[in-house]
Amino acid sequence: MSVDISKGYVDVPVDASLNLPEEINKLKIEKNAIILAHYYQRDEMQDIADYVGDSLALAQWAAKTDADIIVLCGVHFMGETAKILSPQKKVLVPDLNAGCSLADSCPAQEFSDFVARHPDHTVVSYVNTTAAVKAVTDVVVTSTNAKVIIDSFPEDEKLIFGPDRNLGNYLNSVTGRKMLLWDGACHVHEQFSVEKIIELKKQYPEAMVLAHPECKQVVLTLADFIGSTAALLRYATNTDHKQFIVATESGIIHEMKKHNPDKEFIPAPPNDSTCGCNECSFMRLNTLEKLYNCLKYELPEITVEEEIRVKAVKSIHRMLDISEKHGL
Ligand code: 13P
Ligand code: SF4
Repeated sequence: MSVDISKGYVDVPVDASLNLPEEINKLKIEKNAIILAHYYQRDEMQDIADYVGDSLALAQWAAKTDADIIVLCGVHFMGETAKILSPQKKVLVPDLNAGCSLADSCPAQEFSDFVARHPDHTVVSYVNTTAAVKAVTDVVVTSTNAKVIIDSFPEDEKLIFGPDRNLGNYLNSVTGRKMLLWDGACHVHEQFSVEKIIELKKQYPEAMVLAHPECKQVVLTLADFIGSTAALLRYATNTDHKQFIVATESGIIHEMKKHNPDKEFIPAPPNDSTCGCNECSFMRLNTLEKLYNCLKYELPEITVEEEIRVKAVKSIHRMLDISEKHGL
C-alpha cells in the first residue's frame, strides 16, 4: 500500500477510539524503535519518549542506541544529525515540516562562500544547521558544550562561528574571543520582551531569570543564570530559589515542573503574543497522531546524501569526543 507523505507527514486518518500512547508503545517494542524528544516538544510527546533531552543529549543517544529505528521528536536538523551519526538505522521525524528558523538563516552555499573568503579560519558551527553546513564545518557545538570546545582551541586560532549571532556574541564575551559571526537568529529567542520581563520582575521580585544564550544580549543582561536547556533545568533543580522567569521555549517548563513540583515557573513573554508564552511553531508540529502514523508506516524518513554525510560526521564526532573528555 502506498502512503501519502506529500504534506511532509503520513496523511492517513487515525481512529479516534485508539489509546495512542498504548499503541505507540506497542509499535515501538514490535519494531525495536527508540523515541527521542527535545525539551521543546509538546508535553505529551515528552511523556511518551524514551529519552527527553537537549540537542547534545539527543546526538549522544542517537550515536549509541542499539535500536533499529530512531524516531526523533524534534526538528529536521536533529533528525539529520541522528542519521549522520547512525546511517545504518532508519531515522524518522513525525513531521518533516518541523524546520528551524535559525538553520534556515544559514543557506549552505552562502555559508560555504563566507568560509572560502576566510581560508585561515577554523569553522565552528552550532548544531542548529543543515547537514550541508556541517559538511563545511570543522567542529559542531551545542549550547551545552560551545564554551568548552571554543576554549580548547589555542588563543590565537582564528575562528568563524555560525549561524546564531546572539549565541556568537555571548560566546565571544565569555571566552574573550573575537570570532567572526554569521548573522543568523532564532525567531523564538529573538522575541522575548525586555519590558515585559522587567514588569514580571516587579511582580515576582524573588524570581530568578533563566535565559538561553540564543536570546538577545539585552535579555541576557537581565538573566541571573544563562545556559542551554539542560543547564537551565539543572540550575532550577539544584538551587534553593522557588520562582523562575524562563526565557527560552516554554516546552522546557514541563520537565522543570516534573523535577520541581514545589517551584513556580513563569514563561517570559514575547513582544507580540496573546498567549503570554513563547513556543517554537516548528517543534509543535509533531503530535501523537503523527508519531503513531510515523511508527506504523515507518515514514517520513530522514535521508542525507552520502558525500555530505561523510564530511559532516567528522565535525560531529569531533564535538562528541571533546564533550566526552570534559564529562559532558
Ligand atoms: P539546546 O537544546 O542545546 O539547549 O538548544 C535549544 C534549541 O534551540 C534547540 O533548537
Ligand atoms: Fe530552531 Fe529556534 Fe525552534 Fe530551536 S526554538 S528549533 S532554534 S526555531
